[in-house]
Amino acid sequence: MGREARDVNDAEAFAQRLRRRIETSGPISIADYMADAGSFYYATRDPFGVAGDFITAPEISQMFGELIGAWCADFWLRMGAPNPVSLIELGPGRGTLMADALRATRHVPGFAEAIRLHLVEQSPVLRKMQSEKLAAFAPTFHDSIATLPDGPMLLIANEFLDALPIRQFQRRQGAWHERMIGLAPDKEALTFCLDPQPSLLDKALPAAADDSILELCPAALAVAEDIGIRLSEDGGAALFIDYGHVTSACGDTFQALRQHQHVSILDEPGNADLTAHVDFAAFAAAADSAVTHGPVTQRQFLQSLGIETREAALLKNASPEQQTTIRESCERLIDPAAMGTLFKVLALTGSTPPTPAGFGLEPA
Ligand SMILES: C[S@@+](CC[C@H](N)C(=O)[O-])C[C@H]1O[C@@H](n2cnc3c(N)ncnc32)[C@H](O)[C@@H]1O
Repeated sequence: MGREARDVNDAEAFAQRLRRRIETSGPISIADYMADAGSFYYATRDPFGVAGDFITAPEISQMFGELIGAWCADFWLRMGAPNPVSLIELGPGRGTLMADALRATRHVPGFAEAIRLHLVEQSPVLRKMQSEKLAAFAPTFHDSIATLPDGPMLLIANEFLDALPIRQFQRRQGAWHERMIGLAPDKEALTFCLDPQPSLLDKALPAAADDSILELCPAALAVAEDIGIRLSEDGGAALFIDYGHVTSACGDTFQALRQHQHVSILDEPGNADLTAHVDFAAFAAAADSAVTHGPVTQRQFLQSLGIETREAALLKNASPEQQTTIRESCERLIDPAAMGTLFKVLALTGSTPPTPAGFGLEPA
């Protein structure tokens, strides 16, 4: 049986188990659905690129990882070049960002020798790709941030937070009820429903008009809190890049992508990429032990790190065909109509200087 056929069958078995679980125990939260379907999805495929379901910035252009590498090395120097320092990536995908970052910084004296590479990744398929691509740096793998070592760190997370499970609440007659996933009367199709009881969080959530939807991402807030505390105690910097909003607001941003198209969230559980926009205001508030920089737009961040200078350098040695690709991919990263403003960049640092590059906070 070919891989595609096997995946389809596995996905059908996964969906069947999910339906039986709901039939036996009742509706599940959106967070449970996202966690289970997300784990299955990433464990069974390489979802990136034209042949996959979506494409991320490091897969669009080497410039992205190179500039982030330069950002890390620059901050490391500003910190006084600690040795050792943990270089951490959350959700490294194919390992492309990290490989580009490490290549771009190989001539920074002492940097390669100082770093200890730690990758937080749940998917065995992607872990294998990462360990092959980054073998020279002998990465240590972690299932979650809980086992990351103490000490100064440089942490990168590109499109990691958007994959973490969210909870949704809907306003009904002046109270918040959790949105759940249950079974339609045919006991086959999955369907959204509301918990009939107001949520225990009802009083803690802000009032809003009836039918409004509010999202919370407890897993992202836990990351913010933990990394904020680590940074305040041990120093370093963490960079989070993702699509999302700068101020908290009501709205439904839960989405499913398959083969680069928006698809139904519930039709093929485990066979589509499930994400939600990041609430950067809530994230920053949860990281209040650390100092927050930004968020700024991806366009502002990459331009202030010099993406156009890097583009010009790449263009010099490129064939006409390559030049077109370089120009198009740079545009895609910074154009407001593409990824330039939807994606935001937020940094957390320890409580003392230095400040990181790229946030308009350079010392005078
Ligand atoms: C959208 S991909 C981004 C990949 C990469 N950062 C990039 O920019 O190409 C999300 C990554 O996070 C990983 N991931 C998702 N949820 C995770 C979790 N709860 N714990 C650890 N890794 C997770 C996925 O396996 C994948 O590597």
